[in-house]
Amino acid sequence: MTTVSSQVYYDPSHAKREGVLFEGWILAALSGQLPNPSMVWVADVQSQTILLVRGEDGIVRAFENSCLHRGTQIYPPKTGRHAWKGEPISAVTCGYHGWKYTDRGAIQHIPKAKGIQCTETHLKQYAVFEDAGFIWVSLETPRIDAASLFAPIHDAVRHYHLEEMEPIEARDFHFPVNWKVSLENALDYYHVSTVHPKTVGAHVDAEPTFRDLGWHSLQTLYIAPYGWREKLDNHCARKRPYSDHELSSLHKYFVFPNLVINVLPYHLTVMQFFPNGPTDCIMRYRFCQRQKPGKIERARVWASWVASRYILYEDVRIYTQIQQGMEKSTQTEHPLHEQERGVEHFHDALNRWIDDTQPASET
Ligand code: FES
Ligand SMILES: [Fe+2]
Repeated sequence: MTTVSSQVYYDPSHAKREGVLFEGWILAALSGQLPNPSMVWVADVQSQTILLVRGEDGIVRAFENSCLHRGTQIYPPKTGRHAWKGEPISAVTCGYHGWKYTDRGAIQHIPKAKGIQCTETHLKQYAVFEDAGFIWVSLETPRIDAASLFAPIHDAVRHYHLEEMEPIEARDFHFPVNWKVSLENALDYYHVSTVHPKTVGAHVDAEPTFRDLGWHSLQTLYIAPYGWREKLDNHCARKRPYSDHELSSLHKYFVFPNLVINVLPYHLTVMQFFPNGPTDCIMRYRFCQRQKPGKIERARVWASWVASRYILYEDVRIYTQIQQGMEKSTQTEHPLHEQERGVEHFHDALNRWIDDTQPASET
């Protein structure tokens, strides 16, 4: 029987060890947020604001969002309903004294330059990997190259053309629970009949199939095509061809270390989980539609968004009970059910990553 320790949900020393998980590749944005050349977007990656610039050559580069003059944030992080949209620029320009940079991060122009010297000539740059609609950034030297790390995911979703997806809602939720409580709830099918009896539970007959994708996993949930829904799905599934299986299934990917995506031909849900201390977390939520939807497709996406938010509300209601129960439990190991295989895989992947990087004395 597989078990999980309650300690991993509150112990500060465990949370500290987990820091290494976020030194690798982290999703910084969706390609649909920077759809055109000469666009900029400020991404928040592990408490750092990163400047993502899609250059004139169409390539995305990432820079520290700190001006070489006085360190001012070159662009502020955006807030508000349309905060997910990148903005067109003619040059990367700091708003304080007007230093300008090229789309490759080099100083291009310093106003009234006489009398000022700067030892640096380029903004600090980070590694970026863009593929299949996702823009990944690594703030440290990556342990695994991104192409091989993400190949199992990208190859499987490439034909959905997720680079065309854009959020209809992008926001951060703060939850007073360990980040793993929130993430693994999205991977756990065992709770569906209890927590979601009238929503997910009412429309899904069979439990999901599970595939181990190494660092990642895939759970496929068959959604019975009831009457009008089949017609609607066919109408809204642009970018064919999709198999019947793809038209009637939700593909839920766990992408190492902190991402869950729900992929369907007509919409995409992106949930990214960041620790904010041992017992607090942020869920970065993006519910996406394909660009330029027709009326019916738009109505369908918004209806799905309402359903998705209600399902999230059903989950969040139980978060605090999970967290506080774990913190106070005298039982140290807790058994996992067969329908919690996604949770088991998630913990295995985290432990493998942490253990490989810890000095022998700390493992
Ligand atoms: S701080 Fe950016 S130009 Fe002065
Ligand atoms: Fe749930």
